[in-house]
Amino acid sequence: MLSFHQSIKEEFTAVNELIVSQLQSDVGLVENIGHYIVEAGGKRLRPVVLLLSALANGYSGSQHLKMAAVIEFIHTATLLHDDVVDVSALRRGRETANAQWGNAPSVLVGDFLYSRAFQMLVEVGDMPIMGLMADATNVISEGEVQQMANAGNPAICEDIYLQVIYRKTAKLFEAAAGAGAVLAGTESNLMADYGRHLGMAFQIVDDVLDYQGDVESIGKNVGDDLAEGKMTLPLIFARDNVEEAQRNLICDAITRKSKENFCGILSAVQASGGIAYSMELAQKEAGLAKQALQQLPDNKFKSVMIELADFSVSRLI
Ligand code: IPE
Ligand code: IPE
Ligand code: MG
Ligand code: MG
Repeated sequence: MLSFHQSIKEEFTAVNELIVSQLQSDVGLVENIGHYIVEAGGKRLRPVVLLLSALANGYSGSQHLKMAAVIEFIHTATLLHDDVVDVSALRRGRETANAQWGNAPSVLVGDFLYSRAFQMLVEVGDMPIMGLMADATNVISEGEVQQMANAGNPAICEDIYLQVIYRKTAKLFEAAAGAGAVLAGTESNLMADYGRHLGMAFQIVDDVLDYQGDVESIGKNVGDDLAEGKMTLPLIFARDNVEEAQRNLICDAITRKSKENFCGILSAVQASGGIAYSMELAQKEAGLAKQALQQLPDNKFKSVMIELADFSVSRLI
């Protein structure tokens, strides 16, 4: 358990139990794949954000537990689909479900998790929250499609990159934090801002870790983004700030969707300042996330939200 899990240990444990119990299905393969991905762990950041946002705003009911499970199911569904699309082999320190069972079972169990999330949302029965989740899942798919359409294109600029990561990642954090506030019956805009900035910082750092993370710690392979032809921020910066020979190396790798020259490209990215530039932007986003909390009365949950914003930048996992 990470320290922010410890600080809401009771709720966190209850959410994990709920997640496991909600995987129930009469179809064996659904349960097998569901348990495989869910029990591999994962940081459970989005449910933590939802719980903290509700608690920091004074929520005292029990629907936040179910909503936290809903958010994690949606996230897990996107991971199953994302690993098929990205042809990824390692996730949460294990072989991906697509590597183990194939693409079709992964896609279909992803659909099961999505639809189970929506069944649970109906049980919660809050129309504004249902609206938030429907919008979030819709925007995430747009982000993933947009990214796929951009794959192999070395000309992608920073603005487009930021738009994609907002859609594919930050939107769900925004919805998690916003839903917590809605549950608590408070104004949700600032909480949504917190979630959005946290999610932006988180994904920028994810893209840095895809270059220089430790495979053991991140539980995913490095170099996947290059192999998928994805222009992420460290690479965009490098492309625009290196000599022509290195620029050609980068553009060629993206066009060919190949990580054959990963080591050389990693050196170019580091030497260009692409990592430092990305980390600065992540730091700025985390700062904005914390700023969005300023009007929240001081309490222990708010402190953990601040801690989480710092973690999104300093994390090595
Ligand atoms: C992975 O998210 C997908 C991204 C948005 C980068 P996490 O890093 O939160 O994945 P788990 O749930 O901890 O495995
Ligand atoms: C994750 O994007 C976004 C979603 C899963 C929607 P990535 O493709 O960068 O995430 P990882 O690196 O596979 O976890
Ligand atoms: Mg991926
Ligand atoms: Mg990634």
